Amino acid sequence: MTQSPPLAPAYSFLRACRGEPIAQTPIWIMRQAGRYLPEYRALREKHSFIECCRVPELAAEVTAQPVERYGFDAAILFSDILIPLLAMGIPLTFDPGPKLGRLIETKEDVAALRWAGAEEGLSHVRPVIRAVKERLAGRAPLIGFAGAPFTVAAYLIEAGGSRDLTKTRSFLARDPEAFLSLMEFLSNATIDYLKVQIAAGADAVMLFDTQAGWLPPGLFSGIAATWTERILAALPKGTPTIYFALAPSTGHLEALRNVHADVFGIDYRVPLRHARAVLGNDRGVQGNLDPSVLLGSPATIVTQAEAVLRENAGRAGHIFNLGHGIFPDTPLENVALLVETVKRFRANPSGALA
Ligand code: CP3
Repeated sequence: MTQSPPLAPAYSFLRACRGEPIAQTPIWIMRQAGRYLPEYRALREKHSFIECCRVPELAAEVTAQPVERYGFDAAILFSDILIPLLAMGIPLTFDPGPKLGRLIETKEDVAALRWAGAEEGLSHVRPVIRAVKERLAGRAPLIGFAGAPFTVAAYLIEAGGSRDLTKTRSFLARDPEAFLSLMEFLSNATIDYLKVQIAAGADAVMLFDTQAGWLPPGLFSGIAATWTERILAALPKGTPTIYFALAPSTGHLEALRNVHADVFGIDYRVPLRHARAVLGNDRGVQGNLDPSVLLGSPATIVTQAEAVLRENAGRAGHIFNLGHGIFPDTPLENVALLVETVKRFRANPSGALA
């Protein structure tokens, strides 16, 4: 027997990221490792969330859990978009939502921020990724990730989650210059952090911008999308990139045309065919079933999942996913049904848009 070629090029997920035509749409879901899984809840009874992110064996176990249960076509590193704040000396707890122990309110607060560097400040990343890859044993490629700078800035300014980003939007209006230096600081840290993940073996990287839709399209374009593009441009070529902005309007979508990600995660409120029409068919799309559908009946799940697949109309470069994270009270069998439905579906390009 000749030696087998490296596994990576055969992964359907990576092929879809590159826009290669494939017979079967790959599927993974945002927050696939998390509280809806009993094996995750069991582990969390013994270990804190931050421990699960930083101890290699725990992170490997949690990352692999959904892949082992459902056969997802990609694994996502178990971590959180706020973990890098630990390398900025910012106290951070999860309960389960994040709480930050320092307020960023003024330009002086921004100027005082320090980044220890990903190698130094986040020394767990390499051993974690090594352990995860070993545990996955080639079953699925690994997605590394970070928060996009606007979303991380919003968590810093609000010192946690927020209903409508009042403090963040006020900060931007009051002191745009200080806000821009915060974006620059976070972007540089994110470049560092993603480079370490790629060097350690992440097969693709994703930026989460789940707060960016609070910005009107003009600011979304000038701030969120522009700084994301700066990060993407600084990453080594050859590792696929995904940008997920939870941003529902046509104006937001139009701004994405200036971002050179290989794949765009699409908000569950945007019809996939509309996203394709605005972005062009040469960009990959990921999504975008409404996560609440997974709380519906089996018939609804099948119909709605097939509707998403039909909207893509058999075009290359589609990765099936939800259009935001899975709800923690999602029944396990509904996720199994979703995976089965996507894996059974065969695209019919000619008739699909009819
Ligand atoms: O499978 C995966 O996707 C796991 C990795 C992951 C987590 N958070 C684990 C997590 C990823 C990619 C994230 C991204 C993340 N974190 C985002 C962007 C995507 C999105 O869903 O909007 C944001 C905004 C955060 C910040 C954050 N972390 C929030 C708002 C919360 C609380 C919400 C919740 O789900 O309860 C967290 C905590 C968190 N991050 C948990 C998990 C599994 C729950 C913690 C626990 O187990 O107690």
